[in-house]
Amino acid sequence: MLQKVSCPSLISLLLLGFLVSVSHVAALSEDGVRPYVVERGNRRSLVVTEDGEISSAEISAGTKGPYHIQFITLEPDSLLLPVLLHADMVFYVHTGNGKLRWTDGGKEMKRMNLRRGDVCRLPAGSVFCVQSNLDPEREKMRIHAIFSNTDEGIYDPSIGAYSSINDLVLGFDGKILNAAFKVPEEVLEEIASAPKPPPVVHAVTEGGKDDSLYDIGNKHKKTKETKTFNILDADPDFENCNGWSLTVDKWSLKSLRDSNIGIFMVHLTKGSMMGPHWNPMATEIAVVLHGQGMIRVVCPGTANESECKNMRFKVKEGDVFAVSRFHPMAQMSFNNDSFVFMGFSSSTKRNHPQFLTGKSSILRMVDRSILAVSFSVTNTTMDQLLNAQEDALILDCTSCAEEEDEKMKGEIEKEKQEEEATMREEEREREEEEEEEEEREREEEEREEEERERDEEEARKRGGEKRRKEEEEKREQEES
Ligand SMILES: *[C@@H]1O[C@H](CO)[C@@H](O)[C@H](O)[C@H]1NC(C)=O
Ligand SMILES: *[C@@H]1O[C@H](CO)[C@@H](O)[C@H](O)[C@H]1NC(C)=O
Ligand SMILES: *[C@@H]1O[C@H](CO)[C@@H](O)[C@H](O)[C@H]1NC(C)=O
Repeated sequence: MLQKVSCPSLISLLLLGFLVSVSHVAALSEDGVRPYVVERGNRRSLVVTEDGEISSAEISAGTKGPYHIQFITLEPDSLLLPVLLHADMVFYVHTGNGKLRWTDGGKEMKRMNLRRGDVCRLPAGSVFCVQSNLDPEREKMRIHAIFSNTDEGIYDPSIGAYSSINDLVLGFDGKILNAAFKVPEEVLEEIASAPKPPPVVHAVTEGGKDDSLYDIGNKHKKTKETKTFNILDADPDFENCNGWSLTVDKWSLKSLRDSNIGIFMVHLTKGSMMGPHWNPMATEIAVVLHGQGMIRVVCPGTANESECKNMRFKVKEGDVFAVSRFHPMAQMSFNNDSFVFMGFSSSTKRNHPQFLTGKSSILRMVDRSILAVSFSVTNTTMDQLLNAQEDALILDCTSCAEEEDEKMKGEIEKEKQEEEATMREEEREREEEEEEEEEREREEEEREEEERERDEEEARKRGGEKRRKEEEEKREQEES
């Protein structure tokens, strides 16, 4: 009987994570940085030129990670110079449009027009470059990419994401290059002594002849046009007046077939919530595209409290946040704005998010009387809990984010006060220790003083003794 109940008991723990408000703080780590969020301002800047920028975020979720995300921004009519991919790359075009050219396996050059909403994957070993269009609105081209060079979608920093094509060539000495390319030394010298261009430059094509870039000296090879998948054109998996969501993975999108990375997008209208759910197979790494939102994450199980805490945090446009598998979460929009995020899910197995509430609730699948025991309530209460919500997945949640925000601020304030109290306590202990130390030193000095006095006394005594002895001897001599 006990065993039978123990399974839904855990489920009740997960649900209670959302009900109980006295939970742990937004899990600030020692340096004050929330571990599962990389704020826009904390990204690492990799490239800054007047033609574009590249920044990165490394993010872990629980024990999994790091996941490596790059944000590539191209000014209109700019070019990301060709690089060799060391990792699987899946990316999303957030704004602007342009062209992608790539080769995998060196058989042929492929070509693709890119626009907002496009999702694309390039396998490790591809050489690729991206050029932004000079569009009338002069919109920048923004790409969000994830790189993974392990089966789990994790990034191995020792290999890196990619390397520039000229580094690959110029790593060899003149002699080897000379033999390999069979060109006069002057040519190689010119190439070797030329300044290294930044990774992003002004587009090299002139007057809209956009095919010139790759096809110079290559005219007999035709580039092959490939069609992209556009997430904004696709039908959502789910949609109601509170928002919509869409997931694509290797099972639903052919171009992701050999990859362990999927893409998802969630659009919450004002005052809504992606209902409490967890991913049994996937870790989610999300990027906020629009607005602000509150994320509530419940720690599953109680294995180690110091490693796993219930968290709530606020995210805004450009922030990256990660949630591990099995961690129940809910994302909420504020009443004054919609909240949109896209992200990457890393999974080798098929993932079906499991929801706690509504029509598709996993709780509705568990025998009601067992559930009643695991929550220690009556059947009737359990019915009331489960039957009221007719909506599924994305729910109305007016002022939920605002309330979470208030709670988070309270928790941060409390944590700060506790930290200050701890610091004051430590300060007091240090002072006490110093006093004790002084006391010990004083005692030590006193003891030394006493010893010195005792020694002197003895010396004096010994001196007297000696004199007495000498006098005695003298007397004896005189007598004899
Ligand atoms: C819990 O995690 C902390 C931090 O990683 C570790 O120091 C501690 O030993 C762990 N406790 C148990 C009971 O595993
Ligand atoms: C909406 O409200 C939230 C919280 O009250 C606030 O942080 C945010 O700046 C507001 N956003 C806009 C667009 O006014
Ligand atoms: C709850 O319902 C089950 C059957 O659905 C029944 O056996 C049990 O006695 C009920 N418990 C209570 C406390 O009413």
